Amino acid sequence: MLIAGNWKMFKGPEETREFCRRLRTADLGTADVVVSPPYVSLAEAVQGLAGTEIAVAAQSVHWAANGAFTGEISAQMLLELGVSGAIVGHSERRQYFGETDESVVRRTVAALERGLRVIACVGETETEREAGETEAVLKRQVGALADVVGAADGLVIAYEPVWAIGTGKTATPQMAQEAHEIVKMTLDLAVLYGGSVKAENARDLAAQPDVDGALVGGASLDVESFIAICREATAL
Ligand code: 13P
Repeated sequence: MLIAGNWKMFKGPEETREFCRRLRTADLGTADVVVSPPYVSLAEAVQGLAGTEIAVAAQSVHWAANGAFTGEISAQMLLELGVSGAIVGHSERRQYFGETDESVVRRTVAALERGLRVIACVGETETEREAGETEAVLKRQVGALADVVGAADGLVIAYEPVWAIGTGKTATPQMAQEAHEIVKMTLDLAVLYGGSVKAENARDLAAQPDVDGALVGGASLDVESFIAICREATAL
């Protein structure tokens, strides 16, 4: 069970240091744990979690090694810091920063080639779900990865229905299970669920046969809440 905390644009280095000091001694059940701080806090997280099994991932990564790409960061730079993975294609990047299926594939390919692990995000919007397009959207988004990358080592998919992100509306365990089955039909990989995961619902979601972990936003920012999610998700 992989539990990843996506901190989004929260926590500078100082808060990161505090968080890691507590996390490194916590009982996390049997969860494989990843934290994903903003770029400026990655080095602090790597240092703060050194000697533990907890991994540190960035929130995106560019496909080129270097170049005139203002605001971007390469896999080599992340590896130099001791970062071992990256989230790619989060819906907030698709929605606000022009990320497309194509750019998600490019980022994923480059990151995997250089030895980073990747959590690639997919998920339908509320309008798409209401229009009965969930399956088509997932097949398109996951299919783009399947065509170029395939079921590569180091790649994990995160199913994050956009309507459940930061809204307090969680997909029911049954909805998550159905979506994960669709994802796995296209690409046979581990699939994390994301969207308003918290300690109170983590156990029921994790109990679904095709839910292999969680990508947690808001509830990963409080260290005790994140620890509780790791334990709940692995309690069965
Ligand atoms: P919330 O857990 O805040 O809904 O965010 C989910 C998410 O986007 C994780 O990447």
